[in-house]
Amino acid sequence: MLIAFEGIDGSGKTTQAELLNARLTREGVPNRLVREPGGTRLGEGVRDLLLHRTDLKISPVTEFLLFSASRAQLVSEIVMPLLAEGNAVILDRYFYSSVAYQGFGRGVGIEEIEMVSRVATGGLVPDVVFLVELDLEEAIRRREMEGRRADRMENAEIEFFKRVIHGFSECARKEPNRFVLVDGRAPIEVTAEKIFKDVMFRIKNVAEEKNAP
Ligand code: ADP
Ligand code: TYD
Repeated sequence: MLIAFEGIDGSGKTTQAELLNARLTREGVPNRLVREPGGTRLGEGVRDLLLHRTDLKISPVTEFLLFSASRAQLVSEIVMPLLAEGNAVILDRYFYSSVAYQGFGRGVGIEEIEMVSRVATGGLVPDVVFLVELDLEEAIRRREMEGRRADRMENAEIEFFKRVIHGFSECARKEPNRFVLVDGRAPIEVTAEKIFKDVMFRIKNVAEEKNAP
């Protein structure tokens, strides 16, 4: 079972991904939480280049290819083997982030992103994507409350983030069966319970399908 969390910066993805990881573990479901764009040594290097090296010039296409390179390594080195061993894998961001940020946000062609993402991931798509939806004002307020230092991506302008939000909605509209919309303003525990139940339901369904004659 491959589970992805998507949404803009500060929407609450990491909070929910971590809660799901802990809850599944408590319930005895073998699972691992993996974060994009890091997760491998190569990925951490690329992440550093992308997020912290503000001295570097990086074009939108280069940015996309770097995220994709990191993703390709993550899928082959970590995600595929974990899935093959029977683990549920929780991804904190996946290629939909590239569609939303580099595609809708920065203007790289959506079809090209989808094509390269298929190459990078070997065609591995999540069973379910939880899209945490939050208005920009609240996301910014939360980030400021945290006193989080803005990285290169987060320094981008308001209009950019509006396009990113629209991009995520378009991804969900195109794949309504894969996406579950999550209200980013709902209380953390209420959302966590809903997500956990949804995932358990899917895991049971897969198990029943396997056992069916
Ligand atoms: P992301 O991974 O999407 O950037 P985080 O999970 O790091 O977001 O959450 C950003 C901030 O918002 C954190 O301080 C977190 O505690 C807070 N937060 C997350 N979910 C909620 C929620 N449902 N209601 C209020 N605050 C939240
Ligand atoms: P992340 O650390 O997950 O950010 P946050 O916890 O703030 O949501 O991701 C770092 C930044 O990288 C974030 O601004 C989104 C951006 N990003 C892309 O632009 N494209 C991508 O494909 C990915 C995975 C992330």
